Amino acid sequence: MRELIQETNLSPRDFICPVFVQEDLKTRTKVDSMSEIERLPLEDINEEVGIISDLGIPAIMLFGIPSYKDEKGSSAFDDKGIVQKAISQIRQNFGDKIVIMADVCLCQFTSTGHCGIVQGNKIDNDESLAVLAKTALSQARAGVDTVSPSAMMDGQVATIRKALDDDGFTDVSIMSHSAKHRSSFYSPFRDAAECAPKFGDRKTYQVPFTNSREAIMEVQTDINEGVDIVMIKPALSYLDLIAETRRRFDVPVAAYSVSGEYALVKGAASKGWINEKDITEEILYSIKRAGADMIVTYFAKPAAKFLQES
Ligand code: PBG
Repeated sequence: MRELIQETNLSPRDFICPVFVQEDLKTRTKVDSMSEIERLPLEDINEEVGIISDLGIPAIMLFGIPSYKDEKGSSAFDDKGIVQKAISQIRQNFGDKIVIMADVCLCQFTSTGHCGIVQGNKIDNDESLAVLAKTALSQARAGVDTVSPSAMMDGQVATIRKALDDDGFTDVSIMSHSAKHRSSFYSPFRDAAECAPKFGDRKTYQVPFTNSREAIMEVQTDINEGVDIVMIKPALSYLDLIAETRRRFDVPVAAYSVSGEYALVKGAASKGWINEKDITEEILYSIKRAGADMIVTYFAKPAAKFLQES
């Protein structure tokens, strides 16, 4: 009876699994602040994607850590860049068996650690747009399915859509980090991806956590610009915005349960203060209940395992 009346379901098919690939890395390297998450060398990517796919998880989200950084973020749009290499390798090996999504941002690739191009002490929005478009295009040439702009530059969806269409990549979809909040929940990720800003913060381009109308406006803007999937990020402290986005719009809604959310659970679980599996289950179901169609989560693999077993 409880199964019959259960309103919300969760399955490995709801997950997008983040994968960190690092250039010139010799062996898998643990991320200190994210227990059980590793950065992988290119050679280990196929094995990892195979494990993810065998768990019934339909998609990965690639993040690259380049060896070379400069002010323009050149490695981000290098056709031989680490993300591009990973995409084409996965495509060759897996064909259409897994959805390849890739982050489109500059902070891992710029010497400033900012998501856009810095001029003086400001982010140059429009110059950043051109670089983001070049990055998306080079990922498309490598064979990506979905580009996922996370830089929070105004106009990024429209610019990327146009660049993709003009080059014939009309089938490449866009999942935008539409309402990405300026959040302290990202700090473990910055440790994982080496992308902390070298000065200042991201307040001038990310949404303040005090503002929900502004977040909804960001979602609306992305829809107007032709986005395919919108995203609310982080997830747990922003369930109200997931619900509001679901209520107002008919586009697919993704939620990103970010590194800090993962680290909180892992930290407390390692002390024996909480039951990791039970908490993970409750968090993921809550995000679905709020209205997310899919969840980018570092719990993708362990959660897929326990869902298969239950
Ligand atoms: C890059 C990016 C960040 C995250 C995803 N893409 C970091 C940031 O904006 O500082 C955070 C993801 C996470 O914390 O899991 N712009």
